[in-house]
Amino acid sequence: MRLWKLIGLSLLLATAGFALAEFPSVRAQAEPPAASDIIRGAILYDNWFAALGVDAPPGDMPIWSRQSTNSRSGPDTWRCVECHGWDYRGAQGAYASGSHATGFPDVMALAAEMGEADLLLHLGGENDPAHDFSPWLEETSLRQLAAFLKNGLIDDSLYIDVVSLKVIGGDTEYGRSLYDSTCASCHGLDGEQIVFRTEGVDETLGSIAYRDPWRFLHRTRFGVAGTEMPVGAELGWSAADGRDVLAYAQTFPGGREAQVPDPASEQAEPALQVGGPATNWWTGILTGLGAFLGAMGYALVFIGGFILIGFIVVTVLRRRK
Ligand code: HEC
Ligand code: HEC
Repeated sequence: MRLWKLIGLSLLLATAGFALAEFPSVRAQAEPPAASDIIRGAILYDNWFAALGVDAPPGDMPIWSRQSTNSRSGPDTWRCVECHGWDYRGAQGAYASGSHATGFPDVMALAAEMGEADLLLHLGGENDPAHDFSPWLEETSLRQLAAFLKNGLIDDSLYIDVVSLKVIGGDTEYGRSLYDSTCASCHGLDGEQIVFRTEGVDETLGSIAYRDPWRFLHRTRFGVAGTEMPVGAELGWSAADGRDVLAYAQTFPGGREAQVPDPASEQAEPALQVGGPATNWWTGILTGLGAFLGAMGYALVFIGGFILIGFIVVTVLRRRK
């Protein structure tokens, strides 16, 4: 009789202990960072010194000398995007080849493995003193960068053809309706109204959409430093909405002209297509199942431990009699 009471009590304790242990992580997941922090982090990722209105640090970023394939120098070498890419996949993505190639890592895969606290430590030079941004970016900006890396990255690799760089399965008509209502007032119905001067080349929305779809998507979703522009993340656009607008922008006149490879030989070779973290519902389910089984495992360990302690106590008590 006493044995059953002990086992009952230990089960109760195990359940309570497990619930308590899991509570903080469940609560942390329920409170995602503010959308404004993610957007700000994305703009910092694009060009943090422009976003903060300061000069880039002098010279090249210290890590820059570890590569020789990208010949840019100065301010560009300090931008997260120059090393890790508009698709966030560094050497595993669009920057696997072409003039931007550095061989630097896929930050989407790395950030998926890290918590926001670890990301923050890394940006402060914890893992590599040469990767320390804390002398230039204050705590708030570093936190916003970590929030973006943890919550704002969208993997479009399944939706952009690696050779033609065209959107796969985009709804051009729906993209047109979004574009005409929110973007055309500034960029013009054909995307030609604003000209961006990029590395000595005149670009319009159409040419960017064709030449660098990931840059188009990142800036359409999050904006450009110092530019007042309605952005997808504030308009409540889904990842697919952004791609639909991109698909439509690829039909602009500037887009067709830009089919000729650009002077910097960007995207001249097709980028690698590699698997990343959960990219579809199937890997999503597998990830979820893994987490579930992991939690079950912990619970069983707890319960087993308590039952064992129960048995030992019972044995000791019996011996005493
Ligand atoms: C000059 C190139 C360069 C720039 C600029 C750069 N990184 Fe990195 N980053 C690297 C390299 C190389 C690594 C891998 C090894 C290391 O940390 O030195 C890395 C690693 C990372 C990691 C993974 C850390 C880990 O522990 O695996 C994150 C996250 C990251 N960078 C984010 C950023 C952010 C955010 C910025 C902009 C503030 C940025 N990086 C700017 C080159 C760069
Ligand atoms: C209020 C005017 C305005 C509106 C509305 C607007 N934009 Fe912009 N957009 C700008 C300006 C200004 C720039 C930056 C020009 C520069 O960099 O010189 C810009 C830049 C961009 C860029 C970055 C181009 C590059 O250099 O990579 C993209 C992409 C873009 N806009 C897409 C859009 C989309 C999509 C919409 C509709 C959701 C939109 N814009 C609505 C004014 C606007």
